[in-house]
Amino acid sequence: MKNIAVIGTGYVGLVTGVALSEIGHSVICVDIDEQKVASMREGISPIYEPGLSELMKKNYEAGRLSFTTSHEMAFAGADAIYIAVGTPQKEDGTADLRFIESVARNIAEYLADYAVVVTKSTVPVGTNDYIKQYIEKHTDVPFDVVSNPEFLREGSAVHDTFNGDRIVIGSSTGLAASILKEINKPFGIPIFKTDIRSSEMIKYASNAFLATKISFVNEIAALCEKLGANVDDVAQGMGQDKRIGEKFLNAGIGYGGSCFPKDTSALVQIAGNVEHEFTLLKAVIEVNYKQQRLLIDKAREHFDSLRGKTIAMLGTAFKPNTDDMREAASTILARELVLAGANVVAYDPVAMEPARKLFPEAVDFVDSVESALDGADAAFLVTEWDEFKELTPAQYVSFLKEPVLFDGRNCYDLEKMKAAGIEYYSVGRPV
Ligand code: UGA
Repeated sequence: MKNIAVIGTGYVGLVTGVALSEIGHSVICVDIDEQKVASMREGISPIYEPGLSELMKKNYEAGRLSFTTSHEMAFAGADAIYIAVGTPQKEDGTADLRFIESVARNIAEYLADYAVVVTKSTVPVGTNDYIKQYIEKHTDVPFDVVSNPEFLREGSAVHDTFNGDRIVIGSSTGLAASILKEINKPFGIPIFKTDIRSSEMIKYASNAFLATKISFVNEIAALCEKLGANVDDVAQGMGQDKRIGEKFLNAGIGYGGSCFPKDTSALVQIAGNVEHEFTLLKAVIEVNYKQQRLLIDKAREHFDSLRGKTIAMLGTAFKPNTDDMREAASTILARELVLAGANVVAYDPVAMEPARKLFPEAVDFVDSVESALDGADAAFLVTEWDEFKELTPAQYVSFLKEPVLFDGRNCYDLEKMKAAGIEYYSVGRPV
């Protein structure tokens, strides 16, 4: 059992802290937001993440998990200090390291005894060296810095933490690597040890590669539409080749979220800083830009003009099982629909509050999928929530004025939609 401090209680920090306490460590999570800390002490999770609240409550009550706003208190007796603060994107696409820098200052100020400083946040290659130098300059207390990137997905963060494919540990000292290995052993996940810079790069390269897979299949989808092929079958046939793999080949309206858009732009910038033009990744980003607007293009082709049309928007979150709206295609679609003179009626099972803040004021929000569809000229399926996947063709026919459906996530069977008389447009499949 180790004493662990986790700084930052966003997706990564809170899930990491809760998971580390679940495997038996004594964890104290630090956040500067007093209100957030107070509500976590009441057992209320600040984020919607399946399974998280239950585990949080269980470990809090067992005394293995606590919350504080005091860095000093959290660092006292800590064997490891996990940095899990955000690295938002600056306007020029680079990662904003303000929060990382402020944590480094706090560590330098309050570190009392040897500890391993573990970077969970996604940081540009070289940042851990910078953190190390900064802390070294301001304290005589010994410490090591380790890069330990996070690969969890929002919406399945708890599951991913306990079932990851690998745990990457980038360290320049044997002592720090062995402490991290010991901490992570109870997860039973293979550990890959490397140097710090390679570890930092593994995180960016992994996200950039997954984004590439998505943009690649979306380009194939565009070709399939023109050539009369079906991208679902194409992806399945490709994916059966183990070298390609079947995952992350779902064509649709592109990738959103807090990671892929930010990390791909940051990697292009990182490459640019060392005079390398990352041509491939730039194209991946460009394809995604087009893809997020695809449903509007299809609707314009169908209706000629969208003025006065009522569009039911099914789903606003960037993907199912999360209330996260960051870089969600829905925001772009809502804005463009309103600009084109359409009326938008939106529904999402959990992400309506954040959507209200981002969508144009003219968008109406309703509290059921039926109310969204009722009397609309067409539906845009934006997020593939189970609730939407379970809708039958008959429901679309009975609620929509003329049954026209633009499905951005290929949720339904083409034949069934056709048989029900629905004008069904999906991505990369025959109309
Ligand atoms: C992603 C990675 O999958 C995680 O491994 C990583 O840890 C995380 O970023 C991060 O860097 O923190 P996440 O953004 O939560 O996780 O979501 P994903 O499930 O990967 O989906 C990202 C986007 O890609 C979504 O908009 C999704 O709809 C889209 N997507 C995904 C597709 O369009 N097609 C696919 O086949 C898969």
